[in-house]
Amino acid sequence: MDLTDIDAAAWAELETAAADPQSGFRYLNLCSVDAEARPQARMVVLRAADRSARRLEFHTDTRSPKWLELSANPHVTVLGFSAGSRLQLRLQGKVELHGPGSGAAEAAWDKLPARTRTTYAGGPPGDQRAFQTTDMPEPADVAEGKARFGLLNFRARTLDWFQLRQQDNRRALFCYDEAGALASCRWGNP
Ligand SMILES: Cc1cc2nc3c(=O)[nH]c(=O)nc-3n(C[C@H](O)[C@H](O)[C@H](O)COP(=O)(O)O)c2cc1C
Repeated sequence: MDLTDIDAAAWAELETAAADPQSGFRYLNLCSVDAEARPQARMVVLRAADRSARRLEFHTDTRSPKWLELSANPHVTVLGFSAGSRLQLRLQGKVELHGPGSGAAEAAWDKLPARTRTTYAGGPPGDQRAFQTTDMPEPADVAEGKARFGLLNFRARTLDWFQLRQQDNRRALFCYDEAGALASCRWGNP
């Protein structure tokens, strides 16, 4: 496989992961920097991927600390590992935030299954929980979720591709331009 094949295969795997809960890259680590310049990381579900724009989509609650962090500093690293292919993908770039009321957030909300909408029905993420319950949220609370739902559009500018092998690990580095076209690529020492 040459470098352009590796790049194409990595993005094809991300596109597959967005549609397949069993895929290794379905859950990715989204890393940001907070107001005190401390690194912050958390798992997120990959909701969509577009290889031509080098775009990944994530969903989150706009009341969460990450939303505030990303509003102030949109630079992120997205880290994934697939045990099946023993592949690490480390992408760097920026996120665009689409908050409640935006066309992008409304369109994504409309496509969410009812069970996923309940994720946004509770109190603010991280706040102390007043009580434990296994009850389903009230329909009114589920409807409220739309006003908290945010979409993160990540555009990758670099991909650091690393394959762990029994010997002879492989690493390749890719840069993309603003439109997502491959601007440069090279092999790297692992
Ligand atoms: C497998 C997995 C998937 C997750 N997916 C999401 C997600 O898609 N969006 C999200 O906001 N939080 C998701 N979470 C929860 C986050 O990892 C995190 O705990 C939460 O969003 C609070 O992050 P913050 O305090 O940095 O804002 C997921 C957690 C796990 C374990």
